Amino acid sequence: MINVQTLKVDESWSFAEVKRSETMYASHGYHKYPAKFIPQIVQRLMRQYSVPGDVVLDPFGGCGTTLIESKINGRIGISIDVNRVAGLITKAKMNAICPKLLGYSNKELLKRIKSYKDRKNYYRQAHLRLKYWFKWHHYNKLQLIYNCIRQEKNSIIQNFYLCCFSNILKNCSIWYSKSIKPMRDLEKKIEQPLVVFKRHLNYMTKMNEQYFRLLNSKGNIFENCKVLKGDARNLNLKNNSIDLIITSPPYVTSYEYADLHQLSTLWFGYTDDLTKIKKSFIGTSSRLRSRKNISSEMANQTVKAFLKKQKKLAKSIGNYYVDLEKCFREIHRILRTNKYLCLILGDTEYSKIKVPNTKVSIQIMQSIGFTVESVIKRRLSSKIFTPFRDKMGRFTDSSHNSKRNIYQYEYIVIAKK
Ligand SMILES: C[S@@+](CC[C@H](N)C(=O)[O-])C[C@H]1O[C@@H](n2cnc3c(N)ncnc32)[C@H](O)[C@@H]1O
Repeated sequence: MINVQTLKVDESWSFAEVKRSETMYASHGYHKYPAKFIPQIVQRLMRQYSVPGDVVLDPFGGCGTTLIESKINGRIGISIDVNRVAGLITKAKMNAICPKLLGYSNKELLKRIKSYKDRKNYYRQAHLRLKYWFKWHHYNKLQLIYNCIRQEKNSIIQNFYLCCFSNILKNCSIWYSKSIKPMRDLEKKIEQPLVVFKRHLNYMTKMNEQYFRLLNSKGNIFENCKVLKGDARNLNLKNNSIDLIITSPPYVTSYEYADLHQLSTLWFGYTDDLTKIKKSFIGTSSRLRSRKNISSEMANQTVKAFLKKQKKLAKSIGNYYVDLEKCFREIHRILRTNKYLCLILGDTEYSKIKVPNTKVSIQIMQSIGFTVESVIKRRLSSKIFTPFRDKMGRFTDSSHNSKRNIYQYEYIVIAKK
């Protein structure tokens, strides 16, 4: 068994020299997304463990970094996520649009917004939760932009605009943007929604052109990729059908993805009750403990340690590991023999008790039949993702007095079926 604790950092995987702008090349920077990959890691793994034409899957696809890299590198990418907002973003990032056509559509969209006649008070009928987050005049301006986007007839371009709209919602609300939990900032200075929208649209339009040129130069513009809504515990894919999996599961009680994307989820009408969709996300906090056993001894020890101190958290962690095991079984089923799973994850801690996700995952994988060939330890760059949290659990920078360094390293587990 590889000893994760004594592993040395492999600096070549830290990508410390990579600038933030380079991690957002092509369509990678269209939308903010918690815990997204830097594309350089995905690209290196993909080139090492697959060849052009291979099918590459990310069953926790998020905003589609693996899929975009698949497309750029001539692989057939499949991105699956339970979060519909993730699907919308990934589709927008996947499709490079002819720059001329997009330029024309943008002008038409802005004309429609300028001349939009229906200026009623939409806020009055807004979802209560959206009223909580938006001031009425910002909400009404946003609804006007949204109505004009919906008039776009080309579905790919409409989706591109919806991605842009989704990305600006937090900025145009009183959401406290530095928190990992939904928190209001009543003092927040909010710019005019149309100004914010136009600025982000300009950025996305510029990056679309870069992406379009890149794909064209590689001959990959029509590369066949798929974005699916699905649950990693029960994948709708055939046995032995995938050549490579590059993925990163959510961490337990770290990001509540359903909460974090609630503005877009509610605005686009994906649900009117967030609690209903929360259950399909793994890693969320839960009150009921699953009765299923976990095959990893380390997982059982961790749950026991938490039971003494924090019962509720113990339940959430227990459920998380049960779910993780289901996901690994599915991944094993759909992966071809002799092919690889590259799992990127980190350990964490609560109340000074360690949550050793990496060791637990390795134990579960081995019990299912994977051979763990190597584990890479990489340093997280604080330029890209701050590993510090303050006493309230909010992300903070390294200068903060009460900082706690939670995520300093990450592990890449390379496992063969
Ligand atoms: C760490 S993020 C992945 C980010 C991704 N690597 C990227 O670069 O954008 C984990 C993702 O798992 C998704 N997720 C949570 N529960 C899931 C489930 N049961 N099935 C599939 N995806 C799930 C979340 O919505 C989230 O997008």
